Amino acid sequence: MADAAKPLQGKRIIVGVSGGIAAYKTPLLVRLLVKAGAEVMCAVTEHALQFVTELTLETVSGNRVYSQLFDRSNPHSTEHISLKDWGDAMVVAPATANIIGKMASGIGDDALSTLLLSFRKPLFICPAMNTQMLESPALQRNLDYLRANGAVVVESTSGELACGTTGNGRMEEPERIVEQMIASLADHGGERFKILITAGPTYEKIDSVRFIGNFSTGKMGFALAEEFARRGCKVYLVAGPTHLEVHHPDIERIDVVSAREMYEAATTLFPSCNAAILSAAVADFRPEHEADHKIKKQSDKDDMTLHLVQNPDILATLGRMKGEKQLLAGFALETDSELENAKKKLEKKNLDFIVLNSLHDKGAGFGYDTNKVTVIDRSGNIDAGTLKSKQAVASDIADKLLKYCKT
Ligand code: CTP
Repeated sequence: MADAAKPLQGKRIIVGVSGGIAAYKTPLLVRLLVKAGAEVMCAVTEHALQFVTELTLETVSGNRVYSQLFDRSNPHSTEHISLKDWGDAMVVAPATANIIGKMASGIGDDALSTLLLSFRKPLFICPAMNTQMLESPALQRNLDYLRANGAVVVESTSGELACGTTGNGRMEEPERIVEQMIASLADHGGERFKILITAGPTYEKIDSVRFIGNFSTGKMGFALAEEFARRGCKVYLVAGPTHLEVHHPDIERIDVVSAREMYEAATTLFPSCNAAILSAAVADFRPEHEADHKIKKQSDKDDMTLHLVQNPDILATLGRMKGEKQLLAGFALETDSELENAKKKLEKKNLDFIVLNSLHDKGAGFGYDTNKVTVIDRSGNIDAGTLKSKQAVASDIADKLLKYCKT
């Protein structure tokens, strides 16, 4: 297992720097990576050098800076080929809208973008820009594309921006960036963070061809699973019927159909996990009797009664099972008195936090690629989010849960 003081010992990290004012923080990021045991090389764009000098980056990294595509005096003279082999991981900090656009479209027209185009190992992107640029549909689409292809986006934070306004777009602090990189890259030995996630609908059989289900697609739960896996966690994804696929090799998928099957899988896995997030839309009721043949219409009757019985509440059961060090989060789908009902659910089911989905919000909930959630924790903190892609919401939830683990 890695030395606790040097969790990145033996790792080679390439720090990509593009041209934004936040580049003044990059030398600190490099220092922290070196302090954590990593060997670092910097690759910069021409514009980055308007904000930070080559000499500074060379001094803190102890290595030459890669800035020219055709610099024959550099030992890595075909850098975009040899550097990509040298590095175990890459972080782009700050990542401007321009470099993000190039990454998402496969453009390689300078030293950094060419290197990024050929790099296939863990990649962290730390956006930094003006709020309007950050919120532009094109930029968000590019980030979603990069996330879907395995990059970890280290979300920017809110505060004063260089353009004189206040809003989201500040690059995350170097300490937090390094924390996320350690969580993903460090050798955690036997202590790897394990998380259980439930996703999708459940189907409750009426007879051999019919069932009671709901419109959940599982997109939110699958986005959570990918996000936690990208951050170095082992993920157990218990999925109801869905056409979605998992991509990350650290996700172990357990397919189930009914609420009772989901209950069995979740209660078996939870004791060995550090945390669980239950995002599945579990059917609260199932038919009392399941016919083993197709139920026929009865010609003398124009109505039919189906008797339903309650399914076990998986989240409430895990709330009762929860050990002192385990974290448990649930979702709440509400239509009325949303905050109040969500808080009640948090208490009743013994959760650490609850993610509230409101059916009143356009573009949020079942089937959409976007979601708008409010996260409420045990201490009563309420964090109301904006409408974002489900991947971006997953990243916010992962930030929150992993922060909880430390406090
Ligand atoms: N849940 C569960 N097992 C159930 C029902 C719900 O694990 N049998 C979980 C869901 O995955 C979600 C949370 O409980 O994380 C809340 O689900 P929701 O349907 O909003 O609430 P219910 O507890 O079913 O309450 P109600 O239907 O009365 O709003």
